[in-house]
Amino acid sequence: MTAILDKIQQLKKQRNAVILAHNYQPGPIQDLADFVGDSLGLSVEASRTDAEVIVFCGVLFMAETAAILSPNKTVLLPERNAGCPMADMITARQLEEMKRKHPEALVVCYVNSPAEVKALSDYCCTSSNAVKLVSLLPKEKNILFVPDQHLGAFVQEQTGREMILWPGYCPTHVRISPDDIQAAREHHPDALVLAHPECGPQVRALADRLLSTGQMLRFAGESPARSFIIATEEGIVHTLKKQYPEKEFVCVSERAICPNMKKITLEKVLWSLEDMGHQITVPEAVRVAARQALDRMIEVLPD
Ligand code: 13P
Ligand code: SF4
Repeated sequence: MTAILDKIQQLKKQRNAVILAHNYQPGPIQDLADFVGDSLGLSVEASRTDAEVIVFCGVLFMAETAAILSPNKTVLLPERNAGCPMADMITARQLEEMKRKHPEALVVCYVNSPAEVKALSDYCCTSSNAVKLVSLLPKEKNILFVPDQHLGAFVQEQTGREMILWPGYCPTHVRISPDDIQAAREHHPDALVLAHPECGPQVRALADRLLSTGQMLRFAGESPARSFIIATEEGIVHTLKKQYPEKEFVCVSERAICPNMKKITLEKVLWSLEDMGHQITVPEAVRVAARQALDRMIEVLPD
């Protein structure tokens, strides 16, 4: 373990690389990373870093986002097949068709989407700024929200804005069931339930708070509560326990695992730095158009 970590550190310096990791990454990857965060935090970090190489420990749309924001840097995804099934639930062609049906509407796309879909969107958002972003849009405009129906429904509830929702979903979050929440509450009656807005409506209704992963990390620190049931991908429990060792964090279900996030391993990070693979690039025309939607997203930081 130490040998591999030493080699990674050595190569990282040699390549002038930075390692970014999402909160759902396996514990050893989070411990290794220079920056661990939610989708918005990672985008901001990717746009600001001075490093020449970004090793992105996450899934494809995240590495693509980094490539869109930092075109002069080399962006590496240690596992080429780490995709996001939700992002793959909409294609550029499908969005074009939807836009033809609603030519006057504004398009808001969740960052969990392919670069080509971002390029066709007016605004991009993450789960931490979606509510604020939509609440700032002109009231008279229709909004097409893609691809996550659950985040979209949550935004509707919070803003009172009706939107046209694409029927995409996160297979990991919809696997968390109301029974999981109830069973966890029985075992931990004093705990607060923190759920991600990608969860289905019944789970959302049972939660005490609906938060992005970054917001969960902040909330757990600021709240006087001592115990939390975490209804999102289990990787974040590692970060929570590390940041607040005096508090209790219980993962709501052993099924709350994103298999794609878990495809990144220490060995793959090392190979990635050795071979400079797998480089993620976005065609320039797509990049420039997607960049506008992402810039508008980065401007809207959550309160
Ligand atoms: P956040 O970390 O922005 O809450 O994103 C959740 C997610 O599902 C990323 O794939
Ligand atoms: Fe995609 Fe869900 Fe995995 Fe996030 S947790 S990468 S939304 S499948």
